[in-house]
Amino acid sequence: MKPIYITRRETFNAAHKLWREEWSPEKNYEVFGKCSNNNWHGHNFQLFVTVKGIPNEETGFVINLKTLSKILKEKVIEEIDHKNLNLDVPFLKGIMASTENIAIAIWDLIEEDVRQNGGELAHIRIIETENNFVDYYGGKEPF
Ligand code: NI
Repeated sequence: MKPIYITRRETFNAAHKLWREEWSPEKNYEVFGKCSNNNWHGHNFQLFVTVKGIPNEETGFVINLKTLSKILKEKVIEEIDHKNLNLDVPFLKGIMASTENIAIAIWDLIEEDVRQNGGELAHIRIIETENNFVDYYGGKEPF
């Protein structure tokens, strides 16, 4: 059997601010634009988590999507949905709350749980806005 990829989508909305204390307000605005807004701003994020594996002989599943959804809800969504990513989220503490960094942090948070349920985490995509999204493959080349 050859590996196949399955994906679960979850959504969350959250606030953040991209800001470096050691920079002037002008430089922060120059680099981060609207994302440096002093009183925060929010996004409706979409999270896509893709798992690679061989379909199980009995179920035909790479990983039960109900199980994957449960992992994502418990480990990720409950922690970040309707939260301030800079202030409220333990797993993002001390990390610049860019979409890139959020994707990397989520990977580290769920990789082991996915493995324990029979799959291999292959890809995380986070869509931040209609025009901007991030792809992370755990630091590996995608294909
Ligand atoms: Ni933003």
